[in-house]
Amino acid sequence: MSLSMDKLVSFCKSRGFVFPSSEIYGGFAAVYDYGQLGVELANNIKKAWWKAMVQMRPDIVGLDSAIFMHPKIWHASGHVGGFSDPLTECKSCHTRSRVDHLLEDIGVIADEKMSEDEINALFMENMKQISCPKCGKSDFSPVKKFNLLVQSNLGNFTGDAKEAVYLRGETCQGIYVNFENVLTSSRKKLPFGIAQIGKAFRNEITARQFVFRTREFEQMEMQYFTRPEDEMAEYEKLRAARWQYYLDLGIKEENLQWHKHENLVFYAKEAYDIEYRFPFGFKELEGIHARGNYDLTQHSTHSGQKLDYTDPHTGEKFIPHIIESSVGVGRTLLAVLTDAYHEEEVDGETRIVMRFPAQLAPYKVAVLPLSKKENLSSVAQEIAQTLRGSFMTDYDETQSIGKRYRRQDEIGTPFCVTVDFDTLGEGDASLKDTVTVRDRDTMKQERIALSELEAYLRSRLGA
Ligand code: GAP
Repeated sequence: MSLSMDKLVSFCKSRGFVFPSSEIYGGFAAVYDYGQLGVELANNIKKAWWKAMVQMRPDIVGLDSAIFMHPKIWHASGHVGGFSDPLTECKSCHTRSRVDHLLEDIGVIADEKMSEDEINALFMENMKQISCPKCGKSDFSPVKKFNLLVQSNLGNFTGDAKEAVYLRGETCQGIYVNFENVLTSSRKKLPFGIAQIGKAFRNEITARQFVFRTREFEQMEMQYFTRPEDEMAEYEKLRAARWQYYLDLGIKEENLQWHKHENLVFYAKEAYDIEYRFPFGFKELEGIHARGNYDLTQHSTHSGQKLDYTDPHTGEKFIPHIIESSVGVGRTLLAVLTDAYHEEEVDGETRIVMRFPAQLAPYKVAVLPLSKKENLSSVAQEIAQTLRGSFMTDYDETQSIGKRYRRQDEIGTPFCVTVDFDTLGEGDASLKDTVTVRDRDTMKQERIALSELEAYLRSRLGA
């Protein structure tokens, strides 16, 4: 079964995973809202990342830096000067596109470091083979480099502020500028890392890839500070750890691949992406980069503050090197949804089942009374309320039990607990105070004593 993007987008909306932003006003390009199931899935992804990157790592600590930062940070980081994408506009329908993406579609790779003139020349050379993604014509405006930083009017009450304040374009700058604070307050020794999850904003030119590329998104970033001579050995360890993280998350290994960057920026030692096989092909999920001492050197120069590390044994002072792991929450969510989506034939019907790993499933369990009869409902509701103390628990009593099982399969609930007349002792007396537990993947059912239900679910969920 091949899953199309259109199918996934409409599935996400109809089941409550992802909604287009501001839809009743006609939508808002490249911005999305997470619905009642999407927010649970995104929270579970963030929890899994935090556990792997902070909780299980004695050498990594967390941080939550502000979205607004001193304007000079974005000059020091190079974003004001160089954080831009090449843009062109279709002369016929005025759709704007990223030139490097249009070129990539015909197999021509534009080097990220190309100047506006260089990429324009490459584009003009190939323009006849390129069609506008909207109207299909091949007549485009010359290439313009477009800066992706989103500007705000924070504190600019009179409109004549000298320096623009930006919404952060990546979360890691908050880590770099807090390096000294964390170092001195945590008393960590090299190598150590700082991790954070937070919103980032970019004026992305294209708005056609659902939550893969949005203008407001969340990043999960970890910056690892090393001695210069340890940078590449630590980089290889980080690459291995990040690959294993996706396998532990339940992503199928055949849907992952490495992509090595060939044209590195001058300070970078090495750069790899982990790519995922999205419905539109293999694309970057996460970037893992060896960045040398560029970031701390830049911030030291622009702020005038020393950002050195002093070796506790030798007293030697140096600026640490940094290796980075950076991934979007939305992109991970899209990969997890793609990986989980299955359609299969059951009793002559198509069953959609989201095979989420238990740790990521929005609801872990659903309680379903066999019918709406009052005595069944009240016992089932009591069971659901007890389970809520331990697991995200859904409750559903509308329509036939078969339809309700299918609904839970579609939202990826690993277990359904059915309360019937036997549970109440009104049928088979030997089954009093027991319930049926149905497994989402095998559809097999087991009778479990109510007194053991929570422990049973806990062990099956690995919770
Ligand atoms: N600090 C490094 C950095 O920000 P990046 O390659 O620009 O590097 C890292 O972004 C990750 O953030 C990407 O691999 C992707 O998962 C996510 N990301 C970047 N831009 C995004 C966007 N517009 N929408 C959703 N996710 C995005």
